[in-house]
Order: sequence, then C-alpha cells, then structure tokens
Amino acid sequence: MAFPAKRPRRLRMSPTIRHMVRETTLTPHDFILPLFVKATGDRHYREPIKSMPDCYHLSPAMAAVAAEEAYAVGVPAVLLFGLPAHKNSRGSGAWAEDGPVQLAVREIKAARPEICVICDTCLCEYTDHGHCGIVCGHTVDNDATLELLARTALSQARAGADMVAPSDMMDGRVAAIRQALDGQGFAHTPVMSYAAKYASSFYGPFRAAADCCPAFGDRKTYQMDPGNAREALREVALDIEEGADIVMVKPALPYLDIIKAVRETFDLPVAAYQVSGEYAQIKGAAAIGLVDEVCNMVESLTAIKRAGADMIVTYFAVTAARVLARQMTSCDDCSL
Ligand code: PBG
Repeated sequence: MAFPAKRPRRLRMSPTIRHMVRETTLTPHDFILPLFVKATGDRHYREPIKSMPDCYHLSPAMAAVAAEEAYAVGVPAVLLFGLPAHKNSRGSGAWAEDGPVQLAVREIKAARPEICVICDTCLCEYTDHGHCGIVCGHTVDNDATLELLARTALSQARAGADMVAPSDMMDGRVAAIRQALDGQGFAHTPVMSYAAKYASSFYGPFRAAADCCPAFGDRKTYQMDPGNAREALREVALDIEEGADIVMVKPALPYLDIIKAVRETFDLPVAAYQVSGEYAQIKGAAAIGLVDEVCNMVESLTAIKRAGADMIVTYFAVTAARVLARQMTSCDDCSL
C-alpha cells in the first residue's frame, strides 16, 4: 500500500470546499439579542455600559430602535431586561404596567410586530437586596416568590411579549407561570425556561450592568452547582413536565457538555446563553491584542451551536449577523 489512501486534508485545501463540507454553520436566525431597558424620562437615552463594551442602557424607545436594527440584519428576537427607577424588597417594579420592560415591549411591537420579543422573568433587577425572590431571614422563600414571578410574566404577556423567560431558578416556577398565563387568556405565550442555570462567576459584567448583585450571600441556594451534570437533566425534565416550551442552558461555552446532554436527552428546542462574562472575556482579550475578536466570536458561537443549541442568546448577535452577511458574498474569509 502506498501512502494512506485517506487524506482528510483533501477537503481542506480551498475555502470553497471547506465551506461545502462544514457541518455546522451559523445564521443570524440563530441569535437572540439581550437589551437593557432603563426607566427614564429621556426618550433618546442611550448610555454605554462600562462592564460590557459596545452594550448600552436604553430607553424603551431606543430599545425599539436597537431591536429594529437587529431585525434588519436578520436577528429575529430580543430578550429584555429592566432597570427600574426604584427597587424594593418585593421587586414590585417587575410587574408594573409602566415598567421599562413593559414599555419597551409596547414600543417594539408597535414599531415592528414581526420581532419576537422575549422578556426575562426575574425579580433580581427589581429587589433592593438583589436576590431573585423574596427574602425571608437570610434565605430566599421559594413558594412565596412563585406568585410574584407569575404576576411578572402575566404583566409582560399583557404588554405584548411573545415569550417569557424565567431566569430565577425557583422550583415550580414554570408551572406557576404556565397556570397564570393560561388562566388569563395567554395559553399561546410560550415559556422559555432557564432550565439549567448555573451559579456562575461569568455573570459578573451583567450584574454590574443590571445593578443586581446580591447585597448578601450568593445565588448558590437556587442556581446550580458547576460540578453537576446529571442534575441538569433533572432540572430540564422538571421544567418540561411543568410546561416549558424551550429549555435553556446557561452559561454556554463553559457548559458545552450540558448543552450536548440536554440536546441528546430531550426533543424540545434548546437555547444556550453566551453570558456577559463570556462576552467580556473575548472583548477584553481582543482589546489588548491577545485574540482576534471576530474569529473568537464566530468560533465560540459555532462551538455552542455544534454542541446542540438551536438558538443562542448573545450580546454579539448584531455583530455576528453582520459578519455572516459579509461572508455570504465571499467565502475566502478565514474567520469562517
Ligand atoms: C437574572 C439574570 C442574570 C443573568 C440573566 N438573568 C444574572 C444572575 O443570575 O445573576 C446573567 C446574564 C449574563 O451574565 O449575561 N436572574
């Protein structure tokens, strides 16, 4: 036998062929863009977020502009987080009819009804102690929190949200939200649950951006321990039983094994959240010349999709969509 007949390199010799045999390709439809909406009287408010380069605090009207810009480059959905004017112990701003998220939903749907508006359903941006539920002594009271989450989801649906996304990690919250929505005529509003959400150090830049760092303790009594994989499957199974329509794994890149296991075990659509710390690490390393930002971004997103994510929540959504649009016209760009 001469030199081995099999030469995997044959299919790598030209950019065109590499593109033809690529197993995983990204499209702008894969992405969901998170937006931070601030309660403000200034319609044109748009201020850079220090901890997250190229991300902004936006007024509800400017959130609509951002959502339209994203939609114009092919990003179908946004995920809204709110920064209320006032916080209190129960986080009542979360279900205020005129809260920043509720206002932004109305603005976006009025500007472009086709945009899929997803609302993050949680209390931590609205509580003065920064926890995702009601605090009783030094613990978060799971069952008392459920009613408030259901109220929040309902107010988001009433404002016109296309989907609600509970990120609090209380037990039983998907069922509580599903029941509340069904009881009020929102049987067709899907629940995208943050089903396997880990207590992660990768949320740091987001907590600075949303001003939701816990005032005491941490989130380890409700978010998952990073060492656990089998438990993620139990969490996902419970959320599906309770009525989740899409299940999410969060963070994404450090948890590719979880994305893959969830994909292989369940048949629901799987979302993955490339969180603020993942984003900030790429931005930070690129800013000091250690990595190429675009290549790092595309490679990370491709890895998340390859692991099994059907959709990716990412602060890179618009940048990535623009990069992909450029490469449709030329396939000799090395970064894809
Ligand atoms: C709220 C929430 C958090 C994130 C999304 N929803 C913060 C947290 O759980 O502490 C993090 C998103 C990111 O880091 O990009 N519960």
